[in-house]
Amino acid sequence: MMLETLSRFIKVQLPAYLKKLPLPETIGGFARLTVLEWLRLLPLLGVLALLGYISIRPFLPRKKKQKDSLINLKIQKENPKVINEIDIENLRYPNVCYCRCWRSKTFPVCDKSHIKHNELTGDNVGPLVLRKKIL
Ligand code: FES
Repeated sequence: MMLETLSRFIKVQLPAYLKKLPLPETIGGFARLTVLEWLRLLPLLGVLALLGYISIRPFLPRKKKQKDSLINLKIQKENPKVINEIDIENLRYPNVCYCRCWRSKTFPVCDKSHIKHNELTGDNVGPLVLRKKIL
């Protein structure tokens, strides 16, 4: 039943549809088509555009996925997990900034690399600032 319907569509209905299409014989003929004629061409043009897209899609540049989704690109990559412990009592300065963008060359301390990272990516990351109360 399904195959019969498909066969009838391909052998009878599709040729009849194509025969009725107002296809001009020259490029300039497209400029002289009426709005109604263009509307009749739309389904065919849509199918051709879809087939064209499907055929060139494998050659289109792909978005980078894995590498760009990583937060940590180079810090202690040999470790399965990067953990830094800091005893707050040992803070030597009243304010210490710790990196949260993972781009600092002095990780875990912020070296303001987040500014360049934010400019390049549109991100909005910044450091964790620890303030020591001076009593
Ligand atoms: S360098 Fe990473 S937050 Fe400042």
